[in-house]
Formats: sequence, structure tokens, C-alpha cells
Amino acid sequence: MVSYKELGLVNTRDMFAKAIKGGYAIPAFNFNNMEQLQAIVKAASETKSPVILQVSKGARNYANATLLRYMAEGAVEYAKELGWEKPQIVLHLDHGDSFELCKSCVDCGFSSVMIDGSHLPYEENVALTKQVVDYAHQHDVTVEGELGVLAGVEDEVSSDHHTYTDPEEVIDFATRTGCDSLAISIGTSHGAYKFTPEQCTRNAEGKLVPPPLAFDVLDAVMEKLPGFPIVLHGSSSVPQDEVDTINKFGGKLPDAIGIPEEQLRKAAKSAVCKINIDSDSRLAMTAAVRKVFAEKPAEFDPRKYLGPARDNMEKLYKHKIENVLGSAGKAE
Ligand code: G3H
Ligand code: 13P
Ligand code: ZN
Repeated sequence: MVSYKELGLVNTRDMFAKAIKGGYAIPAFNFNNMEQLQAIVKAASETKSPVILQVSKGARNYANATLLRYMAEGAVEYAKELGWEKPQIVLHLDHGDSFELCKSCVDCGFSSVMIDGSHLPYEENVALTKQVVDYAHQHDVTVEGELGVLAGVEDEVSSDHHTYTDPEEVIDFATRTGCDSLAISIGTSHGAYKFTPEQCTRNAEGKLVPPPLAFDVLDAVMEKLPGFPIVLHGSSSVPQDEVDTINKFGGKLPDAIGIPEEQLRKAAKSAVCKINIDSDSRLAMTAAVRKVFAEKPAEFDPRKYLGPARDNMEKLYKHKIENVLGSAGKAE
């Protein structure tokens, strides 16, 4: 058993309370490898932004659970080395799908876990979430639950349909489970294809314009649970310059589309205090690697393509922190 406190990490409780009061959101960036982690820590350190390092079940399987724990500990020390005196870093399990997985993360140094029972019948979701909360809270680890189903297809998280969160359920769910934050479904979705072209309109240049998020559902949830921390998954914006670079250098991502950043900025000013971004980092990494491969075909030193990929991700993370989530300077 390792406590996250020994690793220099923090849970989400104070972080979320401050974010709601201050009208900004904490970035939750997924990582699977060293370059992503370096880029996240550098961006957060240089902007003095609180940050959530997210690890999915897939990432845990990919990178090895023990190694990830030491990487997170290393991230805290690296942040200090970069001049961030008191790093505000959370290590969070993204989309935990069982009590055993959540327990294993609590036991090995995570400061926050998500139990995603959103695909289960309501009463089963309540029971599973409560079981995780009861265990996690014994160790002062915070818990994110989820109500409502996001569409999207990824390695470990997939659904081909979505249902908005029912605001009528949120008080009962939060009260009975004791969860610390709630992920809701208001039209975001996982991956780089958040809307089909049929769901979008086109602007004068023929570019796809996605439909707006269901802010009425968010407002109704906030009315039922005033001041309660709300989480948005599936919040990548799918930057078109990265998509264009990928397509220009041999990739094939036709009609990839995300959530417009102005809508996320608007959400961040409300009780939405955690915004999950993974796909944008994947796109930034892939675009940079493809560019090097295309322009310098003789290159075979991984540092020569993973280095530019890391720089491109760092630029993206800083942009999100400074211009979208508004969290820069909130962890001085
Ligand atoms: O919401 C899911 C995250 O983007 C993680 O994706 O399960 O492919 O690691 P993954
Ligand atoms: P994106 O696929 O939009 O980046 O969403 C990531 C996410 O929700 C991780 O849990
Ligand atoms: Zn998610």
C-alpha cells in the first residue's frame, strides 16, 4: 500500500472547490508514455496550473502499473526541478470499470479515481459507485462518478449511442453514492469524430460546424446540485491544423471534428471544473511524427521525432491551460 501523499500528489477536493469559485476548469490530460508526461508537466509548471494526470485502464496495461506510479512520483519531482515550488498534481484513474481496478489504483498511489458505471442500470451504477467511494474515502482519495452515456469509440471505452444525463437523477446519485464529482453527458464524445457530417452544418468555406452542447442540461444539473463539481469527458477540440498536417503527410482522418473551444471556455466558467482531453494530444503527437517522417526519411533516432512530438504537445497543453480552461496561475 502506497499513499499518494507520500508521492507528493494531491486529491481533487480543494482544487475543484477553488475552480468552481474562480470560474475556471482543471485540465485532465491522459498520458501513456514519457513524452506525454514530460509535456504535461512542463506546460503545467511553466503556467503554474493545477493539473490532473489521467491514466486509463488501457494506459495502465500499456505502460505497466508500477512504472506509472513511479512516473507520477517523478513528475512531482520534475515539476519542482522546473521551479514549481508546490506542484498541484493529481494522479487519476480514468474510466475505472470495476471495484477491483479502483482499489488497486488507490492502493498504489492514485489520489483520485473514476468509477464509470454509466453503462449499467441506474441502481447498479449507484451500488458500484458507492462501493468505490466507501473504500477510496478511507484513504482520502476522491471519486468521480458518471451519469449519462457518451458516444464514441476508443480502445477501452466505447458506445455507439449517447444519452444525455437526466437532471432528475443527479441529487439521488450524488447523495446516495457520496461521490466527489460527477461526469455528465451534454453532447461531448470520445475520439476524433465527435459528430457525423450529417449532424453538422457547413460554413461559407465548406468546413463542418458542429451542433452546440446541451447547455440547458448542464444548467438543469447545476440547479439541482448547486456548487457540485461537474466533469466533462470527450472534450478534445480536434484542432484542424493538426488534422491537416496529418492528412498532408500521409494520414487519413477525413471529417475529424471536435468540440469548439469557445464552448469549453463557456463551460469552464460554470460548475464544470474538470475537462478531459486526450485525443488532441494524440493528434499533436501524430502530426509532428508524420511531418518528420515525411520530411526527413533518413531519420531513425527516436529522439528526433519524439522530441518534436513532445514540443508540439507542450504547445497544445499550454494553449488549453491559458486560452481554454483558464487555469494558468491558479497553483502559484
Ligand atoms: O476516455 C478515454 C481516454 O481517451 C482513454 O482512452 O482507453 O484508449 O486509453 P484509452
Ligand atoms: P477526448 O477523446 O475528447 O480527448 O476525451 C478524452 C476523455 O474523455 C478521457 O476520459
Ligand atoms: Zn472519458
